[in-house]
Amino acid sequence: MGFNAAMGSVGMAKGATSTPGASTGRPTANVLVIHGPNLNLLGEREPEIYGRTTLAEIDDRLRELGGELGVTVETFQSNSEGAIVDRIQDARGKVGALLINPAGYTHTSVAIRDAIQALAVPVIEVHLTNVYRREPFRHRSMIADVAHGRIMGFGADSYMLALRAAARLVQSSAK
Ligand code: DQA
Repeated sequence: MGFNAAMGSVGMAKGATSTPGASTGRPTANVLVIHGPNLNLLGEREPEIYGRTTLAEIDDRLRELGGELGVTVETFQSNSEGAIVDRIQDARGKVGALLINPAGYTHTSVAIRDAIQALAVPVIEVHLTNVYRREPFRHRSMIADVAHGRIMGFGADSYMLALRAAARLVQSSAK
């Protein structure tokens, strides 16, 4: 399903109107959130590192916050590098910003980096953990220098902080 086809069903806070931003007077904007490999296991996977919040709960919180901020949020998770590249390519011309936690691919993927550069909208790199407090191989990011900014170390709140930053970027660029 394409991004636009899904828009009517996402991005709404409880009790919000069907048009994100309509009640606030701010322009509507689309933000795509991509979660990389193994993040589908959040809540079960190494909870002492990643916490007990599931990916479904994070996605629900993102959509709810998106409704409050006046942005439409679509989320996507894949364990496959090629599927993530395809999803980024598919977003070209359709989104105002991308939030991405490439998970393990952060440290290895030239292909995801290249896809991000071809997207030409602000990209925010997100991590649940502060990768600099972890093993040295996690200190290298293939996308850090092509991202607009990076938010890490706040658990699930990293995504919420990133969405607030993305909403400000897309709404200020729409003025
Ligand atoms: C992660 C950090 C990565 O090093 C790791 O491979 C992940 C999750 C994070 O959100 O903290 O899978 O991206």
